[in-house]
Amino acid sequence: MVKLAPSILSANFSNLLEDIKKVEDAGVDLLHIDVMDGHFVPNITIGPLVLNSIKGKTKIPFDVHLMIENPDKYIADFVKGGADIITVHIEACPHIHRTIQNIKSYGVKAAVALNPATPINSLECIFEDLDMILLMSVNPGFGGQKFISFVLEKIKQLRKIIDEKNLNIDIQVDGGIKIDNAAEVVRAGANILVAGSAIFNTDDIEETIRLFREKTSS
Ligand code: DX5
Ligand code: ZN
Repeated sequence: MVKLAPSILSANFSNLLEDIKKVEDAGVDLLHIDVMDGHFVPNITIGPLVLNSIKGKTKIPFDVHLMIENPDKYIADFVKGGADIITVHIEACPHIHRTIQNIKSYGVKAAVALNPATPINSLECIFEDLDMILLMSVNPGFGGQKFISFVLEKIKQLRKIIDEKNLNIDIQVDGGIKIDNAAEVVRAGANILVAGSAIFNTDDIEETIRLFREKTSS
């Protein structure tokens, strides 16, 4: 069963909880929270304070995507804010094995994200430690960008490795996912789809989520 993770980056921040309730009522699986620091990526977005304010007000698990430098410094704060999954970028972590162990020490799921141009083999030594791998299908920083199609090959490559090694790792894909390309991304091997603008920039969020489900269930 493919999981859907709406990214609140495209939600209405002046009425965030209302938008979260809409996706919760539509039965989504994860709430994707994009944290940006203005260093690793050009944009600045959400911090632990925002997580704290929505914590306990929704039942959707928090899937926290850290697009920040020095993520180790902030992991405890995001755990306190209610994170269920914490994803760090391999490009921001010179000691990725240590960072993964740090995340896991809090009893939350650990994931690593790869930018579009970062090869899969950079994960070779840490596969066994991961709960999820996030393949970026845009260069991180902003919502509403176009899906980079060469990432489809990376998804296939990663799916093959995970199946061959018989590992229990989710493949999440993030960036430019729309109703029209969701099926292709799932066929390539993804089992968690992030979608921001395609969900929140629509008039009928519930119907959009229903269509996503329809396209991705085989
Ligand atoms: C991009 C973020 C994404 C973004 C996706 O840096 O990591 O999660 O919100 O937005 P869309 O679905 O609009 O590409
Ligand atoms: Zn994201």
